[in-house]
Amino acid sequence: MSNSTEAELIHMFKGIRFTTRSSPELLKSLDAFDAREDDVLLVSYPKSGTHWLAGVITKLYDTQVTVTSPIEFGDISKLEEWNNLSSKRIIPTHLDYNMLPQNFKNKKCKMIYISRNPKDTAVSMYHYYRDNPNLPTVDTWTAFFDLFLKGNVVCGSWFDHFLSWEEHENDKNILFLFYEDMKKDLPKVVKKIALFLSLNVSDKDIQDICNKSSFSEMKNDTEKENSDPSHTVCALTSNRKLIFRKGTVGDWKNHFTPKQNRRFEEIFNEKMKLSKM
Ligand code: A3P
Repeated sequence: MSNSTEAELIHMFKGIRFTTRSSPELLKSLDAFDAREDDVLLVSYPKSGTHWLAGVITKLYDTQVTVTSPIEFGDISKLEEWNNLSSKRIIPTHLDYNMLPQNFKNKKCKMIYISRNPKDTAVSMYHYYRDNPNLPTVDTWTAFFDLFLKGNVVCGSWFDHFLSWEEHENDKNILFLFYEDMKKDLPKVVKKIALFLSLNVSDKDIQDICNKSSFSEMKNDTEKENSDPSHTVCALTSNRKLIFRKGTVGDWKNHFTPKQNRRFEEIFNEKMKLSKM
């Protein structure tokens, strides 16, 4: 658990909480970010299955690809390094649609948005906050539940994030995926991703990719790796155990009280009334 205060670890940019690991200078400079037409963006609200998706995508390519740190992470010195990358860039981001650098939109870069039941997302984020010294201290699940519903957590409100992207669900360069669908039928989702990325992959390879992307395989693999957090999907920790925690659907039932569930549903129904979800 972190002993640092919120003020030491968090700053606000355009009304959204970012950790101090995202420098204000970098965030300001993103408007002018130089996207490449073949960049692939991997977009998510935190704790929605970003690492899982990144694991699948990198295995789909038979050429070299580089998964960068999230675009909003670090400081401007990284931009030069990114410009010099010769391989295809797979770029994770937790930015909402409105904050995404315009260049990605103009160049119609392919973007994959992964979403997850917000109740499970909240629980996953709670554990992440609790065990990650780079995030402010949260004393109890009840306290975190309130912060999450108010959007007073890193990356802001889950609802605003989802809605900003859902508006673009029918854009041809954006693919919408759900964590729960990946849990239910991973080969089907992997085929969909391959089609979207125009990659020709055999059924046997798809099966192989799915086997290698199971929770236990990915957990074992990353625990063996000695990864540099500034070059991974989650740039806020080098402790891989924080990322591969449980990997299940419905863990919220072990945390939400009936009263919290009713409150969540009320807010969900209100905020999402125009959503198709
Ligand atoms: P839990 O905390 O519920 O276990 P992100 O990568 O966006 O940070 O999301 C992390 C969540 O995805 C964690 O959820 C993690 O366990 C889960 N996850 C990671 N890899 C997975 C996999 N291969 N299969 C299922 N869930 C996975």
